[in-house]
Amino acid sequence: MLPGAGALSFAFVFARWRDRLLANPALQRRLMALPPVRWVARRQLRSLFDLCAGFVYSQVLAACVELGLFSRLAGGPRAVNEILAGNPHGADLSPEALITLLDAAVALRLLRREHRDGVAHYGLGAHGAVIAGDPGLVAMIRHHRLLYRDLTDPLACLRTPPGGLARYWAYADGDDTGRLQPERVAEYTALMAESQTLVAQTVLAAYPLTRHRAVLDVGGGSGVFLATVAAGDRPPALHLFDLPPVAALARERLAARLPNGVRVGVHGGDFLRDALPAVADLITLVRIAHDHDDAPLAQLLAAAFRALPPGGRLLLAEPMAGTRGGERIADAYFGVYLRAMGSGRPRTRAELTGLLSGAGFVRVRERPSRLPELVRVLIAERPSTVKNT
Ligand SMILES: C[S@@+](CC[C@H](N)C(=O)[O-])C[C@H]1O[C@@H](n2cnc3c(N)ncnc32)[C@H](O)[C@@H]1O
Repeated sequence: MLPGAGALSFAFVFARWRDRLLANPALQRRLMALPPVRWVARRQLRSLFDLCAGFVYSQVLAACVELGLFSRLAGGPRAVNEILAGNPHGADLSPEALITLLDAAVALRLLRREHRDGVAHYGLGAHGAVIAGDPGLVAMIRHHRLLYRDLTDPLACLRTPPGGLARYWAYADGDDTGRLQPERVAEYTALMAESQTLVAQTVLAAYPLTRHRAVLDVGGGSGVFLATVAAGDRPPALHLFDLPPVAALARERLAARLPNGVRVGVHGGDFLRDALPAVADLITLVRIAHDHDDAPLAQLLAAAFRALPPGGRLLLAEPMAGTRGGERIADAYFGVYLRAMGSGRPRTRAELTGLLSGAGFVRVRERPSRLPELVRVLIAERPSTVKNT
């Protein structure tokens, strides 16, 4: 054991030593004379700068989306005057101001710049091309306005969320869910639907549903997950449960999304008050658990347990805290986002396993996900023999 280290791990002791070096400007100056150290130091500096400047980067992105730049440039590069012409959002923007934005976007690989006959033209960069092809991402970026507003004073937001995001996610706003009007759920339901296909494909690649007789997708939104299940081989019978106005949207939208002859049983209700229908041997919770604090989540898991037959399964899929390579997404982004929303938190696999076990589920195991940063998948079972109490 290292002197004075107590029971600390070697990695922790090394980190303390490194931190002391990094905090010593005189030593840093001497080390910068050594080329390999300089390389590491420059990388560290860039990464630290990115942290300081992240807000500016996301505002450049937001402004590009607001101007509709990615869709405008999808057809090929354009000069500044062409970008401004006929753009209602660019009406009172000077060419110089637009160039500032465009050059910032080039630096962030949102756009790229090339010269034709000596005139700068701007086209899509690698990130911009992805955004141009993904309306879900555009919708996600647009709704971040609310997050930025709530985070204007980050400490105040951590103490008491200002409520902008909670108003958007009506179920997190403490409203009586029985009285929710359709307009309170339409926007978030559309936003979720835009991003759900990729999530659904990732979940189904991790756990094909072919062994199941019937699935109930709880918090199923407008039904994109079930429509993706329906498009696969030998789909089970399909049921969806969500708040009544969301269930109404699902009834409307599913008709157009389902293959001929496939039907979905749509059930409206509040999973924190109403019993879940006992119609399926698999219940799915896709991007649901992280929206809720521990007590309501325990309530929901208990309701799912009651609705399953002995031997039935629960599938829980969402981004999880502590995912190697995904820490920024789950721990930093979702951690702060859900805190600002005022409900829920990203949980580690161990925390979710504990909550599932607490509700009576057994054999909780993880299925490998293609995109663990986006969604990880846990399967749990209701025991096939029920203990008499
Ligand atoms: C974050 S969205 C996820 C939607 C969908 N599963 C997906 O991955 O796109 C959460 C969903 O849970 C539903 N929900 C939230 N609280 C609910 C409650 N108490 N009862 C029923 N549904 C609820 C919302 O209406 C919403 O559709």
